[in-house]
Amino acid sequence: MKIAMGNDHSALELKNIIKEFVESKGHEVIDLGTNSTESCDYPIYGEKVGRAVASGEADLGIAICGTGLGISLAANKVKGVRACVCSEPYTAKLSRLHNNANVLAFGARVVGSELAKMIVETWLDAQFEGERHARRVQMIMDIENS
Ligand code: RB5
Repeated sequence: MKIAMGNDHSALELKNIIKEFVESKGHEVIDLGTNSTESCDYPIYGEKVGRAVASGEADLGIAICGTGLGISLAANKVKGVRACVCSEPYTAKLSRLHNNANVLAFGARVVGSELAKMIVETWLDAQFEGERHARRVQMIMDIENS
């Protein structure tokens, strides 16, 4: 799969670790930055990840800031994006199975690199279950369209 990745200054080190991990799993990473530790504004990168996923340029996205909150809020403003902050694998798995999340977010100041790898691996391997969950996800998307 093509995975869009974006991060702010607080998450550069973790982004690079996760980027290498995702590539080692056979995926292609579209790195949307930042690639600097200079203080920057996370909405820029949340929007970039969201637009890459919504346009189909990427299949899924991974967004990392200090907490995962700001960058996910920004990504979620792009129509068609369902970004979920996940700090452990169970929520990450269910965000795919039930919510059809297309952007995974987490915080570089919250999770360590080994836990982040487990979260990412679980999330990438999980598939949306559809059926009753499809109706509920559609209800969410209908709110966006109303
Ligand atoms: C940056 O200091 C921090 O606010 C940002 O990384 C993120 O945690 C925002 O939600």
